[in-house]
Amino acid sequence: MKENVLPANGKLGILIPGLGAVATTLIAGVEAIKQGLSQPIGSLTQMGNIRIGKRTDDRYPLIKDFVPLTDLNDIVFGGWDVYADNVFQAASHAKVLDAHLLNAIKPQLERLVPMKAVFDKSYVKNLDGKNVKEAKTKFDLAKMVMDDIENFRDANDCARVVIVWCGSTEKYIEAAEVHDTIESFEKGLHENHDLISPSMIYAYAAIKLGVPFANGAPNLTCDIPALIELAKQTNTPIGGKDFKTGQTLMKTILAPGLHARALGIKGWFSTNILGNRDGLVLDDPDNFKTKEVSKLSVLDDILRPELNPELYGDLYHKVRINYYPPHGDNKESWDNIDIFGWLGYAMQIKINFLCRDSILAAPVVLDLALFMDLSKRAGMSGIQEWLSFYFKSPQTLPTLRPEHDIFKQLIKLQNTLRHMMGEDLITHLGLDYYQDLVEAL
Ligand SMILES: NC(=O)c1ccc[n+]([C@@H]2O[C@H](COP(=O)([O-])OP(=O)(O)OC[C@H]3O[C@@H](n4cnc5c(N)ncnc54)[C@H](O)[C@@H]3O)[C@@H](O)[C@H]2O)c1
Repeated sequence: MKENVLPANGKLGILIPGLGAVATTLIAGVEAIKQGLSQPIGSLTQMGNIRIGKRTDDRYPLIKDFVPLTDLNDIVFGGWDVYADNVFQAASHAKVLDAHLLNAIKPQLERLVPMKAVFDKSYVKNLDGKNVKEAKTKFDLAKMVMDDIENFRDANDCARVVIVWCGSTEKYIEAAEVHDTIESFEKGLHENHDLISPSMIYAYAAIKLGVPFANGAPNLTCDIPALIELAKQTNTPIGGKDFKTGQTLMKTILAPGLHARALGIKGWFSTNILGNRDGLVLDDPDNFKTKEVSKLSVLDDILRPELNPELYGDLYHKVRINYYPPHGDNKESWDNIDIFGWLGYAMQIKINFLCRDSILAAPVVLDLALFMDLSKRAGMSGIQEWLSFYFKSPQTLPTLRPEHDIFKQLIKLQNTLRHMMGEDLITHLGLDYYQDLVEAL
């Protein structure tokens, strides 16, 4: 397949609906890294290695040296927000990065002013920004977003564009008839159907133009049959949902380990306190419900209680998020895990993760943008399941169960890169060379 992957020539535009804490931490971070002020820690594309060939070959290149990815110097950022603050103001407001770092890159950040957003307050009650597009129909709004994308591409001389949704979590809705086909969806856009959310309008606009779209929030967005079909038609890579950071990252690291050793789990209580704008939005029960559904699915899919009812059949899983302004973006999570071992003897695990939400999320957005662009250049389209590694609630075809185990997700991601570059997939069997090594002793 190697010869079919187009090189990453020219500039890549990364357009972001939602220039809040996560997006501004990413943008400021990339600027700081470009200037040699810091390092891209937490980013697999920038700092991760990949094994190529047999263990005995000892080949572990950096991922960015193995696959053709856009260089950080060739990235141009832009985006939309319901607040008109430029990226310097928004980053200062988010209080994730210290003022000293932000001041060092102030001119580059001040230049980035959000475009007017597609916004509907009924989807996010706790926000009331005024930097919002106005039009008669949702179809007109989608057209305006398409114009934004094309104007941005031309003005910044971008060879390619990708979009990553970093906007607030929208209220919970379920897929309905209007989401079933491209025709019903487009009819719904013309008729201002209630169940077409703002994030779906951005996704529709992007996919229509063949621009890769990843969704970092738990909203349905592009996870509906109409947009999956459209992505196939326009050869567009899509993916979601909900960046895997913080507590769920820990859960998908730990749960596969307990499951691997056939240890039982009776209860998993997870609670969080956070005080940023994301926390404020999630303080509304309709918006929390979207997040809750995304967070709850993880354990069931890793543990498969139906296959092992003795170990996981009675598992009680509870997730809470509490808005607590004094903590700002420094989310604190507690997990109490009631497990049992040999002969049913009970044990407990406690995790208290004092994390920084946007510090964990920023490298995820960067990797997703770069890998989505790679997918497009490799001719891959539709749902990019190999990027499940980055999502709390990975989008799959409706007939497939999502894979939540972070280690299996990593194997899939790495094998996809090997496949793209025409290298052997790694099965970890090793028998093909083990005997030779024994004989050589
Ligand atoms: N930080 C994490 O670890 C993490 C993990 C998983 C998912 N997420 C999700 O990522 C998203 C961003 O998180 P954040 O901490 O940056 O939140 P934030 O509140 O700081 O930023 C979100 C921004 O989106 C804007 N916005 C809302 N609706 C919009 C629309 N329709 N168009 C354009 N802009 C819009 C808001 O004005 C705000 O500036 C949230 O949905 C959050 O749930 C974050």
